[in-house]
Amino acid sequence: MLKGKFITLGVTGGIAAYKAADLASKLTGQGAAVHVIMTRSAGEFVRPLTFEALTGNSVSSDLFVSSPGLKMPHIDLAGQADLVVVAPATANILGKLAHGIADDLLTTTLMASTCPVLICPAMNVHMYANRAVQENIVKLAGYGYHFVEPEVGRVACGHFGKGRLAGTDTIVRAITGLLQSPGDMKGLTVVVTAGGTREPIDPVRYITNRSSGKMGYALAEAVSSRGGRVILISARTALKEPPGVELVPVETAREMHCAVMSHYPKADIVIKAAAVADYRCYREASDKIKKTGEKMTLELVRNPDILAELGAKKRDGVTLVGFAAETSQLEKNATEKLSRKNLDLLVANDVTMPGAGFGSDTNIVKLFFAGGRVEALPEMDKLSVAHKILDAVMVIRNTNK
Ligand code: PMT
Repeated sequence: MLKGKFITLGVTGGIAAYKAADLASKLTGQGAAVHVIMTRSAGEFVRPLTFEALTGNSVSSDLFVSSPGLKMPHIDLAGQADLVVVAPATANILGKLAHGIADDLLTTTLMASTCPVLICPAMNVHMYANRAVQENIVKLAGYGYHFVEPEVGRVACGHFGKGRLAGTDTIVRAITGLLQSPGDMKGLTVVVTAGGTREPIDPVRYITNRSSGKMGYALAEAVSSRGGRVILISARTALKEPPGVELVPVETAREMHCAVMSHYPKADIVIKAAAVADYRCYREASDKIKKTGEKMTLELVRNPDILAELGAKKRDGVTLVGFAAETSQLEKNATEKLSRKNLDLLVANDVTMPGAGFGSDTNIVKLFFAGGRVEALPEMDKLSVAHKILDAVMVIRNTNK
């Protein structure tokens, strides 16, 4: 997947530096030419020889030492790179970058880079939570740096929490996504919906569904990495919105309806991955409903069908993408929804299949195009599915021009 790509891998001084060796190996295995820059502190944790053996390239660490092909190492390593990744990125490198300090080979290379830069922080839990570090991350995201957040778990110092370097597979996926996405969505505003709405029954109970929001958040991340502006209208999830995305939190289907309608006028593309409740309680009880008989009946009324309403008033130039969560007769139901809701593309998933639908990290989908074409995709992680959907959307938009 990365054949012909030149990746500069910056390794800074944290215990997770040993995991950068695995990352270097995976990137090289996918065909990338990987050139490693180590900071002085990184050399305390791993030896350059490890990276040289894994990548087949010499490791650079000194701003003032040139080598064959690297006459001015910081300019050459920045100029040749299709992407620079810093993994692990310590609090120190985040602080330097956020404040324009360039005092070694890695910081000068980063400063001279015009390609996408991906930063993968890893540090002690309390250091990561530190306000200065968090503010630096927000600042850097605003400058256009991309991030793969650390994971929650036990870190080397024994603390439990957020700070552990993201898995190397996750980092490779993010790199692949960035390199496959040449900013083709720049200038486009995309409304993405995600998560499962909650319809209150009484002050303590609600009706909902199994959506985790992962599919919608993956779409938001993919649009953002391709340069689009994302308005993410999300029902409650346990997920953190990807950097650079404008989050509009909602609870119920009616709130989602309001939010979608108010952002629709500025949208070029709407992608409705949310699982919206078709019904809500006719009356929400103001007090907790008490147990009475053996049976109880809830009276439900229809919620607005947001997507159908968008389809009915679709403007020229807007691309409308719906999802269909099916448990049987996928083709028949998908085709019916595509035409009834006046969509350009419908993404159908059979949510009974292992590896597909609600909650999983992967999905198995079929794309139904308005012209009648159907494309079945194999099981893929949700970010890759998201990119495939966006590829299809961009083809639709280019052919409709
Ligand atoms: O969130 P995850 O755990 O990652 O799971 C992903 C997913 C299974 C939720 C996602 O892949 C998916 O299929 N989303 C659509 C779920 C759904 O509500 O499907 P539906 O067939 O009921 O609705 C069809 C379309 O109409 C959807 O785009 C839905 O957003 C929209 N709709 C539905 C009802 C309604 N009242 N208003 C709507 O806009």
